[in-house]
Amino acid sequence: MNKAGVLFSIALVLIASTGLSGQKVETDSKKMEWFGDARLGIFIHWGIYAVNGIDESWSFYNGYISYPDYMKQLDGFTAENYDPGRWVELIKNSGARYAVLTTKHHDGVALWDSDYGDLNVVDRTPAGRDLVGPFVKEMRSEGLKVGLYYSVLDWSHPDYPNFTKEEKRYEDDPERKARFRSFNHGQIEEISKKYNPDLWWFDGDWEQSAEWWGAREIREMILDNNADAIINSRLQGYGDYATPEQGMPVKRPEDEYWELCMTMNDSWGYQHNDSNYKSPSQVIKIFSECLSMGGNLLLDIGPRADGSIPEEQVEILEEMGQWTSKHGEAIYGTRAGLPPGYYYGPSTLSADSTRLYLFMHGRPADGQLMLEGVKNKINRIYVVGNGTKLEYSEYLKPYWSNHAGLIFIDVPGNVCDEYTSVICLLLDGKLELSE
Ligand code: GLC
Repeated sequence: MNKAGVLFSIALVLIASTGLSGQKVETDSKKMEWFGDARLGIFIHWGIYAVNGIDESWSFYNGYISYPDYMKQLDGFTAENYDPGRWVELIKNSGARYAVLTTKHHDGVALWDSDYGDLNVVDRTPAGRDLVGPFVKEMRSEGLKVGLYYSVLDWSHPDYPNFTKEEKRYEDDPERKARFRSFNHGQIEEISKKYNPDLWWFDGDWEQSAEWWGAREIREMILDNNADAIINSRLQGYGDYATPEQGMPVKRPEDEYWELCMTMNDSWGYQHNDSNYKSPSQVIKIFSECLSMGGNLLLDIGPRADGSIPEEQVEILEEMGQWTSKHGEAIYGTRAGLPPGYYYGPSTLSADSTRLYLFMHGRPADGQLMLEGVKNKINRIYVVGNGTKLEYSEYLKPYWSNHAGLIFIDVPGNVCDEYTSVICLLLDGKLELSE
């Protein structure tokens, strides 16, 4: 590779590792509609790592546990209390419109009955059955969109070049590379044919180039089977939307479609020793920020090895559900809200731009919200999910000026939500802003 090529590859790796799309393909905006409207998804990291309660795959890769000891977890993965109907009930009630289940993490353990190799929960764990199919079925019967996570890198596969941080299997071996590729593409095709996901959540692409993975071929294969399938950014430029991970964008991302993926505590999978949970109030604040910048939140849960979902996670899902069901009109199908400087808090806009939603964490000491720069006539202001009509006054609006006035909205304490309140401004037409 020449110098420019090397620099280009480095740039691609950087783009991929931050989860930004660096897209090489055109995305059909029609197929993205449901995703753009859905706003909340639930990520599910379920795998043998829940047995010991340790980092998914990374714990052996980084040498915190030996590979054989990591793999001993296979014997403890029972799924005996796995109730996909209950999972889906919790997901639906949280207000999420889609969920993404890990079908295979970097450790290579498939959660379905794969014909490629025997490293799967059917052949190698007491669970002894396909765990993906029943979930997909329940999701579909509840009208939710199905996302499946698949790690393209597989540190267990004998023909994959990387094994652990210290140990590599080979540098350059076209034959082994070709064997791995047919395995990898075979599994992807298998998932595509068996479950036909609405959304593919690839991961681990940073270890190789687009050419190495055959990323273009993977995209083509998926779209041949389902032209409406959505693909996340982690396919070396061949995806449709960006996936910032565990990091809140401060400015609105440039990508039209994006999704923040975030853990509830500090772990993707179940870890009994991690009790650093965010509170429902914090999760709702973070979700409001995503909405305000036009993005989705993919909120993670990590079921135990028996398939049960930890109580702390259930509680967050339920509290989210209370809040999303009350504030639905300010969430689903909305667009990014005001640019910075107009209102000091998150906001969203209805798809037709005639309703402006102001989010309010807590209540200002003097009970008033301030809004700047909105030129429209305001037909009504009300509290979302409660309906109370609110009074407001306007200042800095002399009759000779064309500039928008300053609006002060009175918000009595008794209309406020336990978490974040939302105030709707019904405008006389499409939102118009002063500079
Ligand atoms: C990653 C990690 C991983 C996790 C994922 C979720 O980059 O490799 O363990 O599953 O992101 O976003």
